[in-house]
Amino acid sequence: LMITYTDSLDGITAEQLQGFFVGWPNPPTPETHRRILAGSSHIVLALEIPSPPSPLPQVEERTGVRVVGFINAISDGVLSAFIPLLEVLPEYQEQGIGGELARRMMDKLRPFYTIDLVCDPKLQPFYERFGMRPYSAMIARNYERQSGE
Ligand SMILES: CC(C)(COP(=O)(O)OP(=O)(O)OC[C@H]1O[C@@H](n2cnc3c(N)ncnc32)[C@H](O)[C@@H]1OP(=O)(O)O)[C@@H](O)C(=O)NCCC(=O)NCCS
Repeated sequence: LMITYTDSLDGITAEQLQGFFVGWPNPPTPETHRRILAGSSHIVLALEIPSPPSPLPQVEERTGVRVVGFINAISDGVLSAFIPLLEVLPEYQEQGIGGELARRMMDKLRPFYTIDLVCDPKLQPFYERFGMRPYSAMIARNYERQSGE
């Protein structure tokens, strides 16, 4: 597997964002997923590059590239950042991609005072690897808005 990481959406189309939001009853479409990424203050994408291995292709050469994982953050640009989403496609999990996405995002967010996310307790050990610690959170969910449309 040739996996490359990028923080640019340039040349990435909705077609290259298929297969995410596994298990969501009312998932965002790939087009909406692209809007989510475009509206985020920070993103990291994991791209599978078709063989033969080569450096990250130029924008216009990004055909055949598949997005296999992503993480996003939203921020006020001063003190605080929040990480809403991290996902790796099922067939690409357990190969270190999620960890690399989280590590790269934590690097990007180092200038901020607070870096927060909400996760299941079972994922707390995963995030502890990146310097986070368990806390408590309050959440609200408008399920009729889950697709973002
Ligand atoms: C969480 C996720 C991004 C990890 O991606 P990944 O590429 O498999 O991550 P890595 O290979 O770097 O690390 C795997 C680690 O993830 C953690 N992990 C993943 N799923 C887990 C689960 N269901 N329960 C507990 N830990 C889990 C484990 O610590 C695992 O380490 P291990 O292999 O030593 O057990 C991926 O499982 C995923 O997309 N899950 C569905 C969406 C999701 O839950 N996102 C997180 C929202 S807060």
